[in-house]
Amino acid sequence: MEDKISVLIDEERLNERIKEMAEQINHDYAGKSIHLIGILKGSIFALTELAKHITVPCTMDFMSVSSYGNGTESSGRVKLVKDLDEGIAGRDVLIVEDIIDSGNTLHYLRQVLSARKPASLKLCTLLDKPERRVVDDVTVEYVGFEIPDKFVVGFGLDYAQKYRNLPYIGVIEESDTN
Ligand code: IMP
Ligand code: MG
Repeated sequence: MEDKISVLIDEERLNERIKEMAEQINHDYAGKSIHLIGILKGSIFALTELAKHITVPCTMDFMSVSSYGNGTESSGRVKLVKDLDEGIAGRDVLIVEDIIDSGNTLHYLRQVLSARKPASLKLCTLLDKPERRVVDDVTVEYVGFEIPDKFVVGFGLDYAQKYRNLPYIGVIEESDTN
């Protein structure tokens, strides 16, 4: 059955907000270089849109972690699937995430990456679902949109690997997503 998807945040609002975040980041990192780390695969749309508006010197690397199976509930276990290509010691690192849900992934990333002694480590996420947080000691420096406790897809985010290509953030309306 085809899932019905309604638009929660359209492309124009997404791009506008990402540009604002980039401007804030340019201001905060003035005089520094940023090493952007995109968390595959969900962050790719947010990362590319953000990077277009970064005006301070910038490099990129990617890593992949998994905490979800094919459903919509976090397993709580986070596993490193693909590590970074380069070391981050002494660099100003900005992690780019698609969404912070339980906070387990972020908690894991902060632990693993801070052990590698970057000069600084901050986090930028397109979406945040604060109601869902189970890990309470997580700091997120840059948040695009706070959203309600709904499972969203599009703009990089998937449901069972589908819908990443939608140019907006949508909510699946009619289907059993659990
Ligand atoms: P956390 O570890 O529970 O914070 O989950 C973070 C990861 O779960 C995100 O990077 C997404 O890949 C995935 N995720 C959480 N909520 C959603 C959602 O509403 N739609 C799609 N993926 C989600
Ligand atoms: Mg993700």
